[in-house]
Amino acid sequence: MPDSPISDAAALLRWYLEAGVDEAIGEYPVDRTQPCESIADFAPLALPKQAEKPARTPVERAPPSPASPRRTATAGAAASGGIAAVESAVSLAARMSTLDELREALAGFDACPLSATATHLVFGDGNPQARVVLIGEAPGAEEDRRGLPFVGPSGRLLDKMLASIGLDRSNVFITNTLFWRPPGNRSPTSTEVATCMPFVERIIEIIDPRLLVALGGPAAVALLGVAESVGRLRGRWFAYQTPRMPRPIVATALFHPAYLLRSPAQKRLAWRDLLAIKSRIHED
Ligand code: URA
Repeated sequence: MPDSPISDAAALLRWYLEAGVDEAIGEYPVDRTQPCESIADFAPLALPKQAEKPARTPVERAPPSPASPRRTATAGAAASGGIAAVESAVSLAARMSTLDELREALAGFDACPLSATATHLVFGDGNPQARVVLIGEAPGAEEDRRGLPFVGPSGRLLDKMLASIGLDRSNVFITNTLFWRPPGNRSPTSTEVATCMPFVERIIEIIDPRLLVALGGPAAVALLGVAESVGRLRGRWFAYQTPRMPRPIVATALFHPAYLLRSPAQKRLAWRDLLAIKSRIHED
């Protein structure tokens, strides 16, 4: 008589025990033999059922002022004496009505000191009519050399993450909270971020996407004005709106691909977030 599935499972467990495997350390299996950047890490093999059809969670209102992104950024700049630079960014960005105009304006904008040390302006890449805008933190060395966002190792992983939900640079727009690389990849100052944010906001206003995705904690904090870690912000939906936008758009946060390269175990959560993003994009 053939063994029942239950006695098969018991035999397997006994075999594990005899082999010294006596403790479960995770809820879902992870294929650690895959290289870090592999798209296989984003395959739906090891996912709980519920993640395949994420429930629509309610959109949270970003906190009321004074913690709105613009106010937060400007307050940071004021504290460090950069208010004039921010004011000139606000007034210049507001006068631009296309991405080309905005890029040209930024190319001639020297109130952000990072423009003096960077090799290239890294404005953005992708489709100006995209339904999804992704915002990272700051260009790195390779981005600075090529003048394009996310073209180094973390960019290659980002491209694979996007491909896993049917997106690429022909249907998204990618930019950063800073348009120039901070020397040696140091953390940007609050004034540098505040001076770039009016241009970031204008990019979002001009593209008017369906969904905004902050990549990593610093981008999430700058955009959403919520001082929480990306680990707490990911998987949630926020209403993002600037004073010039007629209606709010949905925003969320994802782990930064550079973090996922360092912590591949977190790719399981990132995959869940990507699936939720995919179903949001196809709603309506
Ligand atoms: N990391 C970012 O946040 N942005 C880039 O463009 C590249 C790496």
